[in-house]
Amino acid sequence: MLPDTFETARLLLRPVAAVDVAAIFDTYSQDEEVTRYVIWRPHRSRRETQAYVDRCIATPADVERTYMIVGREDDVVRGAFALRRRAPHRLDCGYVLAQRWWRQGLMTEALTEVSAWALRESSRLVADVRVQQPAAQQSLPDET
Ligand SMILES: CC(C)(COP(=O)(O)OP(=O)(O)OC[C@H]1O[C@@H](n2cnc3c(N)ncnc32)[C@H](O)[C@@H]1OP(=O)(O)O)[C@@H](O)C(=O)NCCC(=O)NCCS
Repeated sequence: MLPDTFETARLLLRPVAAVDVAAIFDTYSQDEEVTRYVIWRPHRSRRETQAYVDRCIATPADVERTYMIVGREDDVVRGAFALRRRAPHRLDCGYVLAQRWWRQGLMTEALTEVSAWALRESSRLVADVRVQQPAAQQSLPDET
């Protein structure tokens, strides 16, 4: 299971919800600057954003989670962070911020927290493998 939330000094990452559609559409999903280097196209209608949110919510939380990045103090949506478990020992992520929140160190702050969690997870995974395997067969997950 991927975590329910991540917290940093300024941010809370919490699962996207149906109520976020308006904030996502109004602040970044239709912005061509924000979407210039991402794999999805700018949303042309609120319905497209709604369909995206529906897909995120329907995705099993042990496979992929999309978090809204909100201010810890003001609960205002700043962007989104997707965390995907591609394999038991493989994670990747994608992220966006609305333009007004760029260049304030926010994504570095979020990534630092998520990376720290991922490192703790990988240590736990290696420890689990070592417990499960007889000593003679021990190997790191990448070597199996
Ligand atoms: C990429 C993005 C998330 C960066 O977020 P951010 O909070 O502004 O980043 P930070 O303030 O933590 O800055 C991290 C570093 O990236 C640099 N940086 C941020 N945006 C940049 C941009 N558009 N072009 C070049 N460098 C950029 C910053 O200068 C900083 O480097 P520095 O510490 O050497 O100055 C934000 O610009 C964004 O949402 N872009 C559109 C979506 C996107 O491209 N997402 C990435 C693909 S998954």
